Amino acid sequence: MYCLTVSSLNEIPWAELRELARNAAAASYAPYSKVHVGAAGYTTDGRFATGANVENASYGLTLCAECSLVSDLIRLGGGRLAAVAIVAGDQQPIAPCGRCRQLLFEHGGGGLLIDYGLDERPRHLHELLPDAFGPDDLRARKSA
Ligand code: THU
Repeated sequence: MYCLTVSSLNEIPWAELRELARNAAAASYAPYSKVHVGAAGYTTDGRFATGANVENASYGLTLCAECSLVSDLIRLGGGRLAAVAIVAGDQQPIAPCGRCRQLLFEHGGGGLLIDYGLDERPRHLHELLPDAFGPDDLRARKSA
């Protein structure tokens, strides 16, 4: 079950989220790939968090925009994500990588709405990351 106080597509300020994501993408540090990515999230209690990708000369250490967004969320006091928009520097939505789907799952669960461009409609995270492993699994499977 996906329990959110914000559950309707209409309650999500999508235009504002996309604008925040575009602004975040403009601030990204991506001198190597030159793919500038911005992400913006809206919490179930009506707050925003944003992030941009931060690359590194040691390529594997790159931080994705969603990773930066999760960091911002926690810094702002935490809470549950209801919706996330992800945009690239070309102003078009971009799909979250596999690792970021898992990162977002931790803070929004399968009901989290993600706007990344496919078919012009936001998708629930459980569509992008089916049968996800998460905090509930840890609680259920821990040995005594
Ligand atoms: N990138 C993100 O920021 N988020 C994703 O979900 C996909 C990829 C970034 C990482 C890297 O800086 C650039 O896009 C190219 O892979």
